[in-house]
Amino acid sequence: MNLISKTEQILKEVLQKNNFEEDNIVLSVSSKPELGQFQYNGAMALAKKVGTNPRAVAEQIVSSLNEYDIFENINIAGPGFINISYTKEFLKEYLTEISKDMSENVKKYPSKKVFFDYGGANVAKDLHVGHLRTANIGEALKRLTKLVGNEVMSDVHLGDIGRQSGMVIYQLREEHPDWVFFDENYKGEYPSEIPITNDDLGRIYPLASSKAKEDDSIMEEVRRITAELDRGYEPYVKLWELIRKISIANIKLTYEALNAEFDLWEGETDSYPYIEETLEILKKAGCLVESEGALVCDVKEDTDKAEIPPLVVIKTDGTTLYATRELATILSRAKRFYPDEIIYIVDNRQGMYFEQVFRTSYKSNLVRDDLKFKFVGVGTMNGTDGKPFKTRAGGVMKLNTLLSEIKEETSKYVKDNEAMSAAEQKDVSDKVAVAALKYADLLPNVEKDYIFDLAKFCSLEGKTGPYILYSAVRMKSLLAKSGITNYEMHDIYSQTEKDIITKVLEMPIRIDKAYRNKTLSDITEYIYELDSLFNKFYAENRILTEQDEEKKQTWLFITNLVYKVNKLILDVLAIDIPERM
Ligand code: ARG
Repeated sequence: MNLISKTEQILKEVLQKNNFEEDNIVLSVSSKPELGQFQYNGAMALAKKVGTNPRAVAEQIVSSLNEYDIFENINIAGPGFINISYTKEFLKEYLTEISKDMSENVKKYPSKKVFFDYGGANVAKDLHVGHLRTANIGEALKRLTKLVGNEVMSDVHLGDIGRQSGMVIYQLREEHPDWVFFDENYKGEYPSEIPITNDDLGRIYPLASSKAKEDDSIMEEVRRITAELDRGYEPYVKLWELIRKISIANIKLTYEALNAEFDLWEGETDSYPYIEETLEILKKAGCLVESEGALVCDVKEDTDKAEIPPLVVIKTDGTTLYATRELATILSRAKRFYPDEIIYIVDNRQGMYFEQVFRTSYKSNLVRDDLKFKFVGVGTMNGTDGKPFKTRAGGVMKLNTLLSEIKEETSKYVKDNEAMSAAEQKDVSDKVAVAALKYADLLPNVEKDYIFDLAKFCSLEGKTGPYILYSAVRMKSLLAKSGITNYEMHDIYSQTEKDIITKVLEMPIRIDKAYRNKTLSDITEYIYELDSLFNKFYAENRILTEQDEEKKQTWLFITNLVYKVNKLILDVLAIDIPERM
């Protein structure tokens, strides 16, 4: 068990022994490190409950705590803040244990099955920066959820049908009217390939989209094609399947570059087999009413502060839409995987839509009441003008373009490194680029918009991915150069060392906070704080040339410990550490 939980457990026993009732026991980092490593601030509230003096309560707690030999120098500050430190002997034992398996230093929860829906790229459209954050945040939240003891599953939930399908098919028909897909009388097999690349799609969709915007009759035609595809008109279904394949192959590459790993590569169309049953369930529960020719589900509740409009489930022309496929996807997931919770990591602006979807699901008994839904709305990456980040020419910034720009910037860190082959230089600068992007993306709270700043994100100083990687690589190389593998902790020689140890012990508190708040900023901030302390320690000592063998071993032990924390946290953030930099 991690030390924070263990200490909270001891506090619980102590409170029980002294006849205090308290279920919520929270240990925090001491605000006055000179008085202790951690603090318990519950004495004031306990005293208020029973109507006594807080200091007296604190004294009672302290005298019981003193019976445990893992603590030293327990003291009371102010009205009743209890400061707690651990003995060196105990720390030595505990730190040795966690340095073998750092996940021991994490607060664990009883396992639940949590299903993650993130990424959400749209087929036949280029991935834009909006798809970056949901991928980065989703991947990290999934890994974090697993780390604290849950079973996790993920699906990219591709937007693989909709208006864009109609657009692309329309434009292909304009350019290739001779294709058999457009011959109504064609009876043969449909081809299994088309001479179209992903780059072509990057041209075709925007072209069709602007044409349709300018000309109502084209838009009408696009709608008609989309509806026919939804109804299953075979030539279009076959053609769209080929387009889907071309586009998904490319989407996979982009997500791979970001270390986003999905168990399922399903899309909205994979829900088609569940649509009929979904509609049956909704109808049976009396949740579908007609409204201006469409079928909608009324979801408002008396306690709503703002008006929540009904969810449109079937369009006036009888076809399905995003929400229909959403509901059918929920049914499919519930039936196939029995999740305890489904978490959606999607753009902030879809918050109301998901509220409608969740309400519809419960109201119609599409899912059990104990299946939990959670919407994690993410903010956007903006340009300095406060609007979604664009290219220099003012167009939509494609994710791949952004990645190449950052790689260009980070290549400067390895360009003149003669010790590296060209291949290694590329590998390292790619890793640093992904770290720069991810760290910057995960640093602000998830719901906040933030401003893209290439130079700042790629800097080797401050709260940046390159700074963290540089520190981790420094630790790694220090350990390798030392030639020693069995370091031991003998003593604590300086305040900086003590601060580092306290910071390592703090890890479960920060991880727990991030997990409960569903945001990564606590972790990104934490690793920066830890690495800054490490770099201070590194500047203060000549580790490799130290003559005192015990000191040297202790310092390497600390280096290894901090490296292990870095590795664990960077794994959660899905950031790779290069061999050298
Ligand atoms: N494809 C959607 C978009 O680009 C995101 C999908 C999010 N997930 C979901 N289950 N609706 O906006």
